[in-house]
Amino acid sequence: MPEVLFLNGVSFAYAETDVLHEVSLAVRGGEITALTGHNGSGKSTLLEIIAGVLKPKCGTVSQHEDLALVLQRPSAPESLPLTAREVVAMGTWKRGARLSRAAARTAVDRALERVDMSQYANRPLADLSGGQRQRIFLAQGIVRQPGALLLDEPATGLDRMSSARTQKILREEAHRGAIVLCATHHDEAIEQADRTIRLEEGRVVG
Ligand SMILES: Nc1ncnc2c1ncn2[C@@H]1O[C@H](COP(=O)(O)OP(=O)(O)O)[C@@H](O)[C@H]1O
Ligand SMILES: [Mg+2]
Repeated sequence: MPEVLFLNGVSFAYAETDVLHEVSLAVRGGEITALTGHNGSGKSTLLEIIAGVLKPKCGTVSQHEDLALVLQRPSAPESLPLTAREVVAMGTWKRGARLSRAAARTAVDRALERVDMSQYANRPLADLSGGQRQRIFLAQGIVRQPGALLLDEPATGLDRMSSARTQKILREEAHRGAIVLCATHHDEAIEQADRTIRLEEGRVVG
């Protein structure tokens, strides 16, 4: 049976004003779900609530033990002296199940191959272009083959070839049964998704 993520009546506010209003939705495994909406509609906030980074003001969110969140611009790693390979390897450090060193190395190699970044493995992350970093963060998200993969605008700043590769990877992840929820405003990514959830000013519409 495919896994499902759900939210029920979730509201959230950064300060006084709500940015999410009683959001209810379900996201099924085995398919790609696009989360769309204008800038400021609440997509990033919603992903962080599902990932447990932010706590809702009210409502319920299903807990998922095996979830990876690929942020658009993670700020911390860029200021740390880490290589691309080390950033991908961070995706293998999860509570509970620990991979052996050999298994982790194989998984990291494979993830780097999938995003076509093997040749940059030993470069400092800070030396990579924005698009290359984006691919490294995608590799970090898929390295453990998580049960749920949440992505915040993973194709922003990528050239056509790289965004097509990203789309192919999302398809492969969905195909193995993962929940794939991707915030995006790229028309192509939306067309290729199996399902679309649209946010307008913090409300699910359509
Ligand atoms: N850290 C923050 N503090 C205060 N307001 C925020 C913060 N992050 C986002 N917001 C506000 O919350 C709303 C939703 O933002 P966001 O979830 O980033 O939308 P999207 O990802 O769809 O562009 C916007 O009005 C934004 O200005
Ligand atoms: Mg956003």
